[in-house]
Amino acid sequence: MRWHRLFSWALAATASATTAFAQERPSVAPGAHDALVTAGSQAARIGQLWNLTVFICTAVFCAVLLGLVLALWRSGRTREDVPPDLSSIGRHERGPYLSVLWSIGVSIALLLVLIVASVVTDRALARASLADAVNIDVTGHQWWWELTYRGDSPSDNFNAANELHVPVGRPVVVRLKSDDVIHSLWVPSLAGKKDLIPGRTATMNFRADRPGRYRGQCAEFCGYQHAFMAFEVIAETPADYDAWAAAQRRPAAEPADATTRRGRDVFLGSTCIMCHAIEGTIAAARKGPDLSHVGGRSTIAAGTLPNRPAELARWIANPQDFKPGTNMPATPLSSDDMSALVAYLGSLK
Ligand code: CUA
Repeated sequence: MRWHRLFSWALAATASATTAFAQERPSVAPGAHDALVTAGSQAARIGQLWNLTVFICTAVFCAVLLGLVLALWRSGRTREDVPPDLSSIGRHERGPYLSVLWSIGVSIALLLVLIVASVVTDRALARASLADAVNIDVTGHQWWWELTYRGDSPSDNFNAANELHVPVGRPVVVRLKSDDVIHSLWVPSLAGKKDLIPGRTATMNFRADRPGRYRGQCAEFCGYQHAFMAFEVIAETPADYDAWAAAQRRPAAEPADATTRRGRDVFLGSTCIMCHAIEGTIAAARKGPDLSHVGGRSTIAAGTLPNRPAELARWIANPQDFKPGTNMPATPLSSDDMSALVAYLGSLK
């Protein structure tokens, strides 16, 4: 009886802990992080290869088991009242031998098909058209993603973080770099994984064919908060994308009222300015995410928290509560200063 009570108590405690955790974390829409729900041409190719792999591996498994069953079936039988025929040990048994040979032959043939299919898929991915591509530099940091959109001229470049807007139907070429340790960029619905290695530059390309929000995740263990190094690819119509990009190129919005003006003064007068940039102000540090348009993002801290005033205030007050080990230090502020700062950051759409 005591065990039973202990068990239900443990179950209730776990349930309430997971619920509290889930409420604080941004929700992930069903299908937003699913390698089997593909939304682009490259991902569709990889999806087809995956289906073929599952089919062929199942067939190889069946061939091996069938060979085993047939070999056993065709080998000599014995009964309780007849002594075993030990002379068969040194004799070549044709039936079981052929069964094993057949299952090996079928397995090899099927696995060769898989090799050919992998090469064909790889070549198709390498041949994907890159005409009129959107060029983005993605730099991995412990634990967030720095994005630099590169335009035709340097004045078209702009910075963002953690949320990758891309136009539907246009190829995207991503240049991958790392600032500290090895990370790996992975958006299962759009492309395969690729590592970001310090001191090297790699590229990957993908194309989103369906508008939507696709979740990505760092796929290489990179330290304590590796699990909270998420990001999102927002695929939108070319017109929406162009409007978004034009807004990003503009400097941060000027404060429209006394509260946001005070918020900007708090920002520029506190330690925030040592790590973050806000275009159009004197804040130009590149250690942390660019905050020029932070109000337009749906999450903060690389998908760790929803971007709402209450969460933003708690994050600024003590980031270690949510992401222990993160480089961002706690910023103690009076409650008036904190609400002004949060209002200002929220106004930077
Ligand atoms: Cu970055 Cu794991």
